[in-house]
Amino acid sequence: MNIKEKVIRPNSEVGSGRVKQYLLPGGKKITQITTFCPDIIGPGPTNLYVIEDKRLILVDTGIPTHLAKKIFYYWRRQYMPPEVKALPDNYSEMELVSGLEAAGYSLDDIEVLIITHGHVDHYLVGTTIVKKNQVKVSAHVLDTERICNPWALSKNVLLGRPRYAAMGMPIPTYSAQEFHGRIDMESDRLALRVDYPISVDGPLSLGGVESDDITVRHFPGHSPGSISLIIGSGEDKVLICGDTLLYPITPHPDDLVAYLRTLDDFEQLEGVAISLPAHGKNIRDLHGRIRFLKSHHRSRLEFTYRACREPKSPWEIASMPRYFDVFVDPKKFNPMAGNEAFIHMDLLVMAEGLYRSKIDGMVHYFRNTREKFDDVYARVLDIIDNRESTVL
Ligand SMILES: [Fe+2]
Ligand SMILES: [Fe+2]
Repeated sequence: MNIKEKVIRPNSEVGSGRVKQYLLPGGKKITQITTFCPDIIGPGPTNLYVIEDKRLILVDTGIPTHLAKKIFYYWRRQYMPPEVKALPDNYSEMELVSGLEAAGYSLDDIEVLIITHGHVDHYLVGTTIVKKNQVKVSAHVLDTERICNPWALSKNVLLGRPRYAAMGMPIPTYSAQEFHGRIDMESDRLALRVDYPISVDGPLSLGGVESDDITVRHFPGHSPGSISLIIGSGEDKVLICGDTLLYPITPHPDDLVAYLRTLDDFEQLEGVAISLPAHGKNIRDLHGRIRFLKSHHRSRLEFTYRACREPKSPWEIASMPRYFDVFVDPKKFNPMAGNEAFIHMDLLVMAEGLYRSKIDGMVHYFRNTREKFDDVYARVLDIIDNRESTVL
């Protein structure tokens, strides 16, 4: 690999704040700045990227620290360690600003902000940056529903509640109004206007100005509008992949069929020397990671299929020992874990391996035959391979 790497600043004791630079052949520089977001109960610190292009680009913003506390600890009724409690409200933003300075930039130098996808840990510091600096914002149109909608968080809570209850989850006892009061009153300050919408793959085009060596690709499945950026050429390409590929944690798909198709598409990429994800560590072996993620979802489907010998709700599956590496407490609210079980069960229903029924106001999934998992999985692969299937 001809990409040079240099750590400019190490992480602090809360596990974020690191600044690292990547120098591509030809002189292009990418700076990785890691900002606070909780791990174990969250995805871990968010990696932001600064790319020197015709204009200076910032990829993702992280999450304001006070909102990370509310969303990850308060919403899920989780214990907050004192060192997290002590962090100031704008801690992650300060990490971004000081990280830029450590790398020789200032916030004023940023001209364009690209959002990899519309999850809260990626765009919620955006309005602060835009207000201070008048930067232009770019994101895929399919995630503007979250990024641009002041009430996206509130809407998800309202829509999620009956859905989580149907999955068998112990949903929080506080009212939607209380949640709204505690978290979402700031929504109108957090929604972004997207100036440069992305809707097609190809050279990155920002307001009609085309980049020389950045390609944008739509890779849905983690969210409807997840994008990746491919920078450079030949055998020294850098892939900035948002949450679509992560290491060592595995990304949570919101649409498993789309996600498994995206993994197939990633497999077609050649010459990627290093993949830079939005959380965790860099990926040196892209194809190895894709093989792992495919086998991981196959194992999860098999686990689910076997467990549904007796009818099971998604939450019963999610909180079974060994379903996740980290124990999911069946009494605590963890929407991500419940949804992960649900999407695997849903794909098994599509493949006619599992069937669904409603018992006591909850959905349960069960097997109707003693068919071998391999035969069910062959039909799963047919669904993934057959992209001609109609949306109707
Ligand atoms: Fe995400
Ligand atoms: Fe994320």
